[in-house]
Amino acid sequence: MSKEKILVLGSNGKTGRRVIERLEKVQNIEIRRGSRNEKIPFDWEKPATWNSVLQNIDSVYITFQPDLAIPIAVDSIQKFTKLATELGVQKMVLLSGRGEKEAQLCEEIVKQNAQNWTIVRASWFSQNFSESFFLEPILAGIVALPRAKALEPFTDADDIADVVTASLLENKHNGQTYELTGPGLLTFEQAVNEIAKASGKNITFQSLTLEEYIQMLREYQVPDDHIWLVNYLFEQVLDGRNAHITSDIEKVLGRKAKDFSAYAKETAKTGIWNP
Ligand SMILES: NC(=O)c1ccc[n+]([C@@H]2O[C@H](COP(=O)([O-])OP(=O)(O)OC[C@H]3O[C@@H](n4cnc5c(N)ncnc54)[C@H](OP(=O)(O)O)[C@@H]3O)[C@@H](O)[C@H]2O)c1
Repeated sequence: MSKEKILVLGSNGKTGRRVIERLEKVQNIEIRRGSRNEKIPFDWEKPATWNSVLQNIDSVYITFQPDLAIPIAVDSIQKFTKLATELGVQKMVLLSGRGEKEAQLCEEIVKQNAQNWTIVRASWFSQNFSESFFLEPILAGIVALPRAKALEPFTDADDIADVVTASLLENKHNGQTYELTGPGLLTFEQAVNEIAKASGKNITFQSLTLEEYIQMLREYQVPDDHIWLVNYLFEQVLDGRNAHITSDIEKVLGRKAKDFSAYAKETAKTGIWNP
């Protein structure tokens, strides 16, 4: 029997790395890592790299960089998915952002261009606090953020990876759009307090206006395109539209989604917040 060949984009990223860990345990699968640092490199900013990485691939897990909300995403997703189907790809699983109008345009493109598809629309990842932009402020002991009252159902990247892996491997997920959330709603302050409790670290939360936050990022010389994205996420996506939970993780996996305090306890044990 010939092996099914799966391309995982963002193979070193929060979800891609976890999807690979899961696929490695499955027999008759050949994995290709989509990274700028592989022998056959993949770079969203260099369309010339796309053809080689898509050769002889059956299924693709698509994670776009930095976010499907950025203006160029629609054009990149259109070109990438069209090329993938032309080269024989049979199935695409797209990681999308919950409540992002622009991301949903990209979902429609995938639905049009893919032979088979599953959309995995996720809310904010818990791992943003340990593997991404909130790690540094946590290590510094002070997290200053706008939208202090916004409620978000933080989702664990392990749950997302489980749903993505099932979607890549099982045909019953074809044509489905899953909206993934954790089991409860938390404010950023509550999330930070959970981390403080689990890690035993003193972490102060400071509530800012969006304008003060953007000004702070400018003072830290954060690049303009990153500031644009942060502004978009805090202004538009955290306006209350996502402040409700779904049961799609349980529907797909037959078990409850991991809650934030379990994530905080597990992650604290790794020592990442107390290096
Ligand atoms: N974070 C959240 O809360 C959240 C919520 C919902 C949806 N999302 C969506 O999740 C997607 C990101 O997925 P993720 O969090 O699993 O990945 P991630 O952790 O953001 O992935 C980071 C990896 O992307 C690769 N990368 C960076 N620039 C690249 C480029 N130009 N071309 C190709 N690869 C590049 C880098 O790997 P190499 O150095 O190896 O190339 C890097 O290790 C985004 O589209 C985002 O909108 C995120």
